[in-house]
Amino acid sequence: MERKWWHDKVAYQIYPKSFMDSNGDGIGDLKGIISKLDYLKELGVDIVWLSPIYQSPLADEGYDISDYYAIDPRFGTMEDMEELIAEAKKRDMTILMDLVVNHCSDEHEWFRKACEDPDGKYGGFFYLRDKDPEGKLPTNWRSYFGGPCWEELPGTDKLYMHVFHKKQPDLNWENPALREEVYKNIRWWMEKGIGGFRIDAIINIKKPAVLHDYPADRDDGLSSVNNMLAEAEGIGEFLGEMRDKAFAPYDAFTVGEVFNEKEEDLPLFIGDGGYFSTMFDFSSELYGRSDKGWFDTKRIDIDAYRGCMFGAHEKIGDIGFYSTIIENHDEPRGASRYLTPEMRTEAGKKALATVYFLRRGLPFIYQGQEIGMENKEIRTVEELDDISSIDAYQVAIRAGISKERALETLTFFSRDNARTPMQWSGAEHAGFTAGDPWLLENANYKRINVEEQLKRDDSVLAYYKKLIALRKDPAYKETLVYGDFVPVKDCAHNVIAYFRKTDEQTILVAANFGSDSIAISLPADEKISFSETKTLLTNGEDARIEDGVLRLSGQQAAVVLLGR
Ligand code: GLC
Ligand code: CA
Repeated sequence: MERKWWHDKVAYQIYPKSFMDSNGDGIGDLKGIISKLDYLKELGVDIVWLSPIYQSPLADEGYDISDYYAIDPRFGTMEDMEELIAEAKKRDMTILMDLVVNHCSDEHEWFRKACEDPDGKYGGFFYLRDKDPEGKLPTNWRSYFGGPCWEELPGTDKLYMHVFHKKQPDLNWENPALREEVYKNIRWWMEKGIGGFRIDAIINIKKPAVLHDYPADRDDGLSSVNNMLAEAEGIGEFLGEMRDKAFAPYDAFTVGEVFNEKEEDLPLFIGDGGYFSTMFDFSSELYGRSDKGWFDTKRIDIDAYRGCMFGAHEKIGDIGFYSTIIENHDEPRGASRYLTPEMRTEAGKKALATVYFLRRGLPFIYQGQEIGMENKEIRTVEELDDISSIDAYQVAIRAGISKERALETLTFFSRDNARTPMQWSGAEHAGFTAGDPWLLENANYKRINVEEQLKRDDSVLAYYKKLIALRKDPAYKETLVYGDFVPVKDCAHNVIAYFRKTDEQTILVAANFGSDSIAISLPADEKISFSETKTLLTNGEDARIEDGVLRLSGQQAAVVLLGR
């Protein structure tokens, strides 16, 4: 595998609307982000991904862009953006924008022009079909956010396709003129000095050659978009062209949001010279998903999480470098998803951090994860902002699920969980805003906040700093960044353990997600010795290894350098 500048870096995702509000309007903004760059630098972050800040009606909170060349005034100005890029550079950090090009907003000029003249140039930027006199839709696909994928093109006798919300019309990638517009925009941002992009929902850009119905999978008569994606072939032509024409000339760093890739596609996507630098490993986010909806999704436990993690490494092998996460703006908080209520302590959060962070791959930290932010309780459907959560609630109710269970499902899965304001302090509204926050903060901010954790050397935040510093330590970096990922295969219940290995060094990463102490037998290996060991990091006492048996107390994680 070819070595890249970003392999030994640490990335951080900012959800701008909820990160830091500088002017008291209740909405996080670019000036707020600039004011926190030193905080991120202190933490050890190198790469900062911003969820979208382009001009947008914010129907899907910015993933619906109405001008790819403008900053939404609620987030600031283009001057603020330039300042952010420059201030990041001064600190040796780089900014990633979010590239949302499967769809734009129905308030984008292209869409407006398509409505005015569906047969003209901009009509060709979208998937348009004539309306059927009987009202039959062109296909029976169900959009990700609920309802059919087709909507009337205002003022015309046509329909347009949207695989997400109706305010997010799909762009027609079959049209070379559209593709050139996308590449032009990428180059324009690269010229501004950003480091690259996180690439949104990209697998959706390729539709099957013939659009047709699939068997219905719920009693709404519709069929999941996944069925058409499974049939779509040839996405590589678009992705390869985008790489060659837009990313490669700038050596842009790119991370794909890729779900449902075909296994044989991995080398093409993120192997040497692949379409992207890296892509997220979503195996544990996808675990237990049900076609019926969130309410029917099986919840993950530590044993299943270990299975996902080990499986992902087996799949990727030496092909490329995944990006690893435990949460993002679309997922519940990692501490709430992976940890049982008993484990949802500072020790448990540190254990979880340890095992995901030291995997082979580029670790991403989502804002607030570094202080162990948790899901918030959702009591009524009215308090929801997220369109997909609102849909998930209705789906559950229609399936005959009780209100209580539907709300409990949302407390577990809602995207709003990750979108509550960043908890900076115990001051009103968690120190996020001097005004009224656009989304109410989690009630636990007095207990969980940055200001308090900065004061303690044993806080989750302090632990993340140590973890980052360890991964960058010249003495262990080669192993922790490039070393093989060797799972301890027959891990006991509630244990995750693996080795990171080079020819010269072996480091053991292990965590016990149970409350009782445990003995873990380590597989014998003539190249390593369990006698002269050194604990590099732990959330408890130094780890003891005797006769190849590692002892960990309840909720303990340890990173141990093994002897030769
Ligand atoms: C991606 C984004 C998500 C958004 C969707 C549509 O999955 O992460 O937030 O709603 O794409 O753009
Ligand atoms: Ca603001």
